[in-house]
This record gives sequence, C-alpha cells and structure tokens, in this order.
Amino acid sequence: MASAACDSTGPDAVIANPLEQLTLEQLRTRTSMKWTVHPPDVLPLWVAEMDVLLAPAVADTLHRAVADGDTGYPSGHAYADALAGFAADRWRWDGIAVERTAIVADVMMGIVETLRLLNEPGDTVIVCAPVYPPFYAFATHSGRRVIEAPLTPGGRLDLDAITDACTAARRLSNRPVLLLCNPHNPTGTVHTRSELTAVAALARRHGVRVVSDEIHAPLVLPGADFVSYLSVPGAEDAFALFSASKAWNLAGLKAALLVAGSEAATDLARLPEEVSHGPSHLGVLAHTAAFAHGRAWLDALLEGLDQNRSLLTSLVHRHLPTVDMVRPEATYLAWLDCRRLGLHSAGPSDGPGVVSDLSGPARMFLDRARVALSSGHVFGTGGSGFVRLNYATTSAILRDAVQRMGAAVATTKVRSG
Ligand SMILES: Cc1ncc(COP(=O)(O)O)c(C=O)c1O
Repeated sequence: MASAACDSTGPDAVIANPLEQLTLEQLRTRTSMKWTVHPPDVLPLWVAEMDVLLAPAVADTLHRAVADGDTGYPSGHAYADALAGFAADRWRWDGIAVERTAIVADVMMGIVETLRLLNEPGDTVIVCAPVYPPFYAFATHSGRRVIEAPLTPGGRLDLDAITDACTAARRLSNRPVLLLCNPHNPTGTVHTRSELTAVAALARRHGVRVVSDEIHAPLVLPGADFVSYLSVPGAEDAFALFSASKAWNLAGLKAALLVAGSEAATDLARLPEEVSHGPSHLGVLAHTAAFAHGRAWLDALLEGLDQNRSLLTSLVHRHLPTVDMVRPEATYLAWLDCRRLGLHSAGPSDGPGVVSDLSGPARMFLDRARVALSSGHVFGTGGSGFVRLNYATTSAILRDAVQRMGAAVATTKVRSG
C-alpha cells in the first residue's frame, strides 16, 4: 500500500515557498514543543521544527494509510530503497546497500543502539564540540564517558583536536567511538571529502570506530555539497544514520535508518531484531514518501531557506551589529556569536546536553525580546556566549524576531551604561 504519490502537481510544477504558507496565528494553534513551551508573546526560534505544512507526497501517503486503516507494524525495506535512490540522484553516491541497513526508532535511538554494538558502558564517545546537545545526554545516559574534540574557531573539524581526543579516549577505553555530526549542528558546517578522509585515516590509526549522524544531509544549501562519511576511503567500518525527519519536518513521525559500511556488516548483524520495532509504521511510510517523492517540495524548501539565510544575514548586520553570524552551509540553524555583548554566559560545566537550559544571551533575548533561542552553552565547549536561531520560519516572523532582539540589545546597553 506504499504511496506512489509525487509532489501533487508533478515534477515540473512550481511549488510555492513552503516557509510562507502559514500565519503566526495558525502556527500558534500547533501543539508541538516549539509552539507550546513558551507563552504566546514569545516568538519561538529554538527547537529544530520547521513552520511548514507537510510535503504533498507525504501528506497523501499518510491520508491514504489512515483511510485504509493501514496502521500496523512496519515491515520491508522501502525506506532503505527510497534513501538509496535519493542518495544516488542527489549525492551521486551508490553506497547505500539496502542489505546493510536497519530501521530504527529515530536517529538518537539509532546512535544509542550503535554504541551498544560497538562499545560498553564505561567506554568513551568523542564529540566535536560545540555540538547537538543530546549527543552528550544520550551518551552519558547510556553510561559512556564523553570526550570533546573542539571544532576550530571557524567551525571546522580540527584534526589535531580529534587526534588528542582519540589518544585520551584510548587511554580510558579500548573501544572509543567518534560521533560525527555531518552536516554539523549548530554551526551548519558541511564537512568536505578531504576533511572526512583525514578523519577516517586518523580513526583507523587510533582504533576508533566512527558513527556519523547525517540527519541534516538533505538540507545542504546552495554553495556546498554533501559528502557522506560512509563514502570516503577508510570509512568502511563506520555507521551512518539518516532520516527524513529534519528536511521534511517529520519529528512527530518517528523513524530513521541505520546504515553500515561494508566492514561493519557483521556488527549490524548483531543488532537485536526488536530494535526494528521502534519506528512507527506511519513514520516509515512518511519518511519513505519524502525521500522517494518529496524532492520537488524539498527543492522549494531549500530555495526558501537560502532566501531566509540571506535575509537573516542582513537583519543581523542591521539590527545586531555586535553579533557575528557565520553563514551556515546547511541546516536551518544559525549560530550567532554574541560574545561581544559581554553578557555572562555559563560554561559547559553548567550542563552541556540540557536543551532547555538558558543562560547569558539566550536568557536575555527571552526575557527582554520575548524571542526563544537555544542557549549556546548547552552545546558544550565553544558554545558559551552563542545562541542558535532556527530560521525555518516566515520572513515576517524572522524580521520581527531580529528587530526585537536588536531593541533588547539597545535597551540592555542603556541600562548597563
Ligand atoms: C544532529 C541531530 N541529530 C539528531 C536529531 C534528532 O533526531 P531524531 O528525532 O530522529 O532522534 C537532531 C534534531 O534536531 C539533530 O539535529
């Protein structure tokens, strides 16, 4: 009963910007985390949900499943087939071997299950900080010790820091894992083929296995090209995780795909069967439809995100002249350096991993601008004094939010001066 729906009007149809379909009033009726955690006077630009309607192909698939009562358990490899087709077309990469894939509940649970295959509680996990806070939370919750390999000041992978972290990790455990984020959340960095090849050589040299979270891969914006870690030489013993959840806004429809490199097949074979019971059937159907038939919608979204990236750059320049924004190469997340505002910001010891924790500039922007952002310090070392802003919203909300932030900074200056 899998859907054969295309983005409703066909591949050549012009799809309107998905980011300009909803009003603030309509968005405020949503019941998901983004729109309910804060009171209604707050503009929520924090958690990674997008202010879009579903891609028509995804909505059609879900409607059909509900109408048919097709709401049982997931089965088969349609999700893997769809991802393999997408990877071949979009990334010119034929490396997704369907027999080396497994459906998992979501990306983070897939990471936890992969850690269980590769090491044990007490072992180490290396992360490239600042990074998606649940990397810390899920690793420590499963009893692993986290070692940081901070990014360079320019937000790129730092091979020396990764070497040092591998050495430190090997002193503490025989089976360290390097958990990559590719593209990187929160900086929006797209790791290059040469960077990833160097990481693979380094990981092999130190006996470190690599798990690459590639959830943001479909969200690479014009100007950069996605390279899967699994596609570089030396990465054959690695794992990667993919999902349609970020690019098609399907976090509420849980599903993800774990993909093993050719030398990791025997590890994948040890994955307990019950792990594949985690994703919901509706989730698998929706993700499959997205990768197989939601590409025209994705193109329209990427165009809208590219426009918002430019708009945000100019808004920050105009209203927040003492804030520096690194132009993200991917994702809909902007990493804003607010250190020149001189506000106290907690260090990472105050809690990397606790997504809802607010400090420094994020606290000030919530209190004085009524704009909710993610606080940089929860992303670990290098995050203090930064905020992460989600620009997958309407241009009107984006303008309002940055104007409010600018006014709040001006008021703060007057008060402190
Ligand atoms: C890098 C990264 N990994 C994983 C996730 C969460 O994915 P899931 O809901 O599939 O666990 C996110 C969500 O924003 C993310 O940015």
